[in-house]
Amino acid sequence: MPRADDFRAADDFRAAMASFASGVTIVTTLESDGSRLAMTATAFTAVSLEPPLCLVCVDRRARAHAPLLQHGSFGVSILAAEQEPVAAQCAAPIRDRLAGLRWRPGARTGCPLLSGALAVLECQLVEAHPAGDHDILLGQIESVQVREGNPLLYWRTRYGALRAVAAEPGQPTAERRVN
Ligand SMILES: Cc1cc2nc3c(=O)[nH]c(=O)nc-3n(C[C@H](O)[C@H](O)[C@H](O)COP(=O)(O)O)c2cc1C
Repeated sequence: MPRADDFRAADDFRAAMASFASGVTIVTTLESDGSRLAMTATAFTAVSLEPPLCLVCVDRRARAHAPLLQHGSFGVSILAAEQEPVAAQCAAPIRDRLAGLRWRPGARTGCPLLSGALAVLECQLVEAHPAGDHDILLGQIESVQVREGNPLLYWRTRYGALRAVAAEPGQPTAERRVN
């Protein structure tokens, strides 16, 4: 039975995590009938270089959760600064979150990869660990593509962008601010 303290702890934890600025990804997979699923996810991180592994934490209630486990692979698109509308659409309560967006199927997995993303990865699901109300999905990287650009950020429940001031040669610092 949860106590009042536990509820406060959850609020404090949420507030603390909201202070942690992150990039924004779109995680995609395929349903058994071939239809495509996408969800915005910030709980994404690198895990290992050899072999190359990443993880994403997925709410067990999310529509994409069961298909992610069943399909056994997923795509990750790391969004560019101008892709805030993509992030909003892929978290919205709509049936086809990829409608009207530009994407291509990944050559290794068939999972959608968003055009215009800073980096796209295809992952083979190698492990799934239950963790509270989420599952930690561990993916082995099968393909990667990277391009130049600035990242979309998420901080204190808002999207933003890095404002990098390029340092002159010989100047030590670059100012970086979140809008
Ligand atoms: C900025 C942002 C980050 C999110 N990060 C995650 C995440 O890391 N893991 C997750 O399971 N859901 C995350 N969500 C929620 C999902 O994108 C999605 O909205 C939620 O799972 C409900 O989807 P459903 O209608 O498909 O069940 C995030 C939402 C937003 C707006």
